[in-house]
Amino acid sequence: MLAPLQERHDVDVWPGDEAIPRAELLRRVAGKDALICVLSDRIDDEVLDAAGPQLKIVADISVGYDNFDVAALRRHGVIATNTPDVLTEATAELTWALILGTARRVVEGDRLVRAGGWKGWTLDFMLGTELRGKQLGIIGAGRIGRAVAAKAPAFGMTAVFAQRPGTPATATGEPKREAFASSASFDEVLVSSDVISLHVPSTAETRNLIDRKAFARMKRSAFLINTARGAVVDEEALFWALNERLIAGAGLDVYVNEPTIDPRFATYQNVVLAPHLGSATRDTRLAMMNLAAANVLAVLDGQPPLTPIP
Ligand code: GLV
Repeated sequence: MLAPLQERHDVDVWPGDEAIPRAELLRRVAGKDALICVLSDRIDDEVLDAAGPQLKIVADISVGYDNFDVAALRRHGVIATNTPDVLTEATAELTWALILGTARRVVEGDRLVRAGGWKGWTLDFMLGTELRGKQLGIIGAGRIGRAVAAKAPAFGMTAVFAQRPGTPATATGEPKREAFASSASFDEVLVSSDVISLHVPSTAETRNLIDRKAFARMKRSAFLINTARGAVVDEEALFWALNERLIAGAGLDVYVNEPTIDPRFATYQNVVLAPHLGSATRDTRLAMMNLAAANVLAVLDGQPPLTPIP
């Protein structure tokens, strides 16, 4: 990633293993023409002012760009880019890892084996949920939601895309019927799905989309999977649903205050907790970094960016 940038520009790389501290970011961004950042870096007026008027582009190594104050970027006339497409399959695979992990209790079983608690094979030991013949509800029929749905037939599941909440079932512009998935109203998907997987961006409209009301509509045998953003799920409502056994379990990759996790999460055996690994494969992370670098090179060359945020 760095070589093509370094061949033509001076590059200042944060060498730390952890996210750059805010004060350090504000200090080092001063006078730069381009900034490549990650999803934990909040890019707002403060950063843009600290950078100065020569800043031309901020390239997020991430498809979700809820860390961007888009209005501030526009006000400053700074181009903003993200990394769509290249992480679609990796994130879909991680989603399926969480579906299988929760339904078949893989992580719970691992904990038991490590703790020496396995007493042997019995007919009713650690029974899980079979996926074959079940329905996968997909909330968010974008690239990742569709890639997740496309894998459903391999597990004998039917996939259904949810229309945007509040739209009539007959509305146009909603997810089309595909060979691998049909579509239904948001409520119908909540009520009838065995696994519900979230693939919407984090916006004002999707904040707490899965709230108490939504959990109350789900099957008691349903699993909720979230590889989108923590803010899409009302975590208090999730704890309520888990405590009241309104759902069978959850597979989570994202959290409201990540990397700080509400300690209550760790108390549920039926919740699988991944540390935001959606795009975390070597191939994909390299592709994301290369795409961010290509966006910067294009803009510094006076060309349009490859993947501007929509
Ligand atoms: C990861 O969560 C991303 O949005 O790329």
